[in-house]
Amino acid sequence: MASHILLLTLVAITCTLSLAFEPSPLQDFCVADSSSSARVNGLACLDSKLVQASHFSFSGLHIAGNTSNPLGSRVTPVTVAQLPGLNTLGIALARLDYAPWGLIPPHMHPRATEVLTVLEGSLEVGFVTSNPENRFISKVLQMGDVFVFPLGLPHFQKNVGHGTAVSLSALSSQNPGVITVANAVFGSNPSISDDVLAKAFQVDKNVIDHLQSQF
Ligand SMILES: *[C@@H]1O[C@H](CO)[C@@H](O)[C@H](O)[C@H]1NC(C)=O
Repeated sequence: MASHILLLTLVAITCTLSLAFEPSPLQDFCVADSSSSARVNGLACLDSKLVQASHFSFSGLHIAGNTSNPLGSRVTPVTVAQLPGLNTLGIALARLDYAPWGLIPPHMHPRATEVLTVLEGSLEVGFVTSNPENRFISKVLQMGDVFVFPLGLPHFQKNVGHGTAVSLSALSSQNPGVITVANAVFGSNPSISDDVLAKAFQVDKNVIDHLQSQF
């Protein structure tokens, strides 16, 4: 009896884990039909007779992103929105450009694990584990180094080299999503009340008002 309960528990855990990832495709491909109004989990499939090589292709990832902004960084995404052939395939890509000291600020991908490769320069990267440990795991990476940010955990990348830096990330979702911590907490629309945030962060309300005014 006890072994049956253990087995059922294991099956339940396995099912829960498998649901945390995108479902397996049910056909060779399902190129996203952006003109379809069908509501499905993902995007409706274009008639396969209309599919062309261009639906599986994206150009321009050799072009550096414009990093002239306060953070000194730029993300050039290649998700299903840019590359319709990614629909249902559970994978995406992004080029990241960093000015000297440029930062991709702390953020999470609700639907993807990310594996990053440094193509040029030197990056400090890190992520924080969930409660209660909240362990900060970080490393300085050089050209050719690879680092993985596990699904859903907050992470950041900072250029700590002398020149510009470039990295390429692969992500385990056609639509990884991004939640930038500062924007979500202090820049939501409408705002979260400063009572809530003052108590959550254990600071005076005027500190919160100042942070909210930055977004
Ligand atoms: C880069 O972005 C800045 C700020 O938006 C803009 O002024 C500048 O013209 C852009 N540079 C290029 C090469 O597009």
